[in-house]
Amino acid sequence: MTFAKKILITGGAGFIGSHLVQHFVKKYPSYQIINLDKLTYAGNLENLKEIENAPNYKFAKGDITDESFIQELFDVHQFDGVIHLAAESHVDRSISDPMSFIMTNIVGTVNLLNAARKNWEGEAGKLFYHVSTDEVYGSLGAEGFFTEDTPYDPRSPYSASKASSDHLVRAYHHTYDMPILVSNCSNNYGPFQFPEKLIPLVINNIKENKPLPIYGDGKYTRDWLWVGDHVEAIDLIYHKGNVGETYNIGGNNERMNLELVHDLCDVVDEMLGRDAGSSRALIHFVKDRPGHDRRYAIDATKLKDELQWEPSVGVKEGLRRTAKWYLDQSEWLERVTSGTYRTYYEEQYSSR
Ligand code: NAD
Ligand code: TYD
Repeated sequence: MTFAKKILITGGAGFIGSHLVQHFVKKYPSYQIINLDKLTYAGNLENLKEIENAPNYKFAKGDITDESFIQELFDVHQFDGVIHLAAESHVDRSISDPMSFIMTNIVGTVNLLNAARKNWEGEAGKLFYHVSTDEVYGSLGAEGFFTEDTPYDPRSPYSASKASSDHLVRAYHHTYDMPILVSNCSNNYGPFQFPEKLIPLVINNIKENKPLPIYGDGKYTRDWLWVGDHVEAIDLIYHKGNVGETYNIGGNNERMNLELVHDLCDVVDEMLGRDAGSSRALIHFVKDRPGHDRRYAIDATKLKDELQWEPSVGVKEGLRRTAKWYLDQSEWLERVTSGTYRTYYEEQYSSR
């Protein structure tokens, strides 16, 4: 079978990647999608069950830091495009183990860029799309928003590694004419997110009547985006973005952590038939995350003006959908939280 385009999606077994792979495989049957993932603790092929036998989908298990493997993958498949999501993604883990973030997020990205550069030499119509985070811009006070022109000021090993990879992707554009796109997105939430991140962790702990750890005073603010809206934005940018450009993606849904956790308690209590708000008693203030960024907020005007993208799911509706999904998925939760996860979780929070 010949395909109109062959696209490599890295990190496609992770949270956002699995939504993106499903979206592309279903929406574009004329594209072949190759999902490259190392299947770390955060990668789970179960997330892709719906499309695993689709004729336009292939999975390749591998590490983006493995130079010869990546080169061979490019040689075999002759990709037209890359959408790069593979990363170590959790800030707390980057504090306890920065090196794995440097290796995957920086070295792995350069490895992919080198393979693309070598394989695409002299060819037109190729595209390397790098998926990144708003955390590269640092921390905001009570006012203001991140725009595409906000100077980089990363504060955690995670955000510093993503900032570095963003710079390298742009450097390959300027130095080698690599056709690139970058997007920097705010905090995503929805099904298939590994339950070490705030929203799934809180839903799971409410269900299990465990403490809900709130770092510091709980007045840290994030701009929450429904993962499906991120996927739609990536699709639009991949197909219609101006090569060489960066686009900010945000939910326009700012919430303080404590406010968000209160909302989640109310939603989950209602779904579980508990007294309204009773789970709020599980809230437990713990030692703050070192270097904790106070506030993130995105100005996504460029994406709205140029590509007419706007988030479609508000945080109230998104939290309901997410809570329902996690409450219905006890087997998925059980499987992903077995093994090393518990050790890590206990190690982190027992000392806070
Ligand atoms: P995730 O941790 O859920 O998934 C990451 C995936 O990458 C996993 O499937 C993992 O197995 C894979 N991976 C890790 N190291 C690898 C390696 N060396 N080689 C190959 N595969 C490897 O992450 P996510 O939340 O889905 O984030 C995906 C991307 O989007 C990341 O680049 C992240 O920086 C970015 N991003 C995430 C958010 C968010 O809120 N989650 C927001 C903005 C940007
Ligand atoms: P997280 O989901 O780790 O995303 P990020 O750090 O990339 O923004 O955390 C979201 C916010 O929630 C952040 O301010 C840290 C805070 N947080 C808690 O208060 N308790 C928790 O158990 C976790 C995981 C996060």
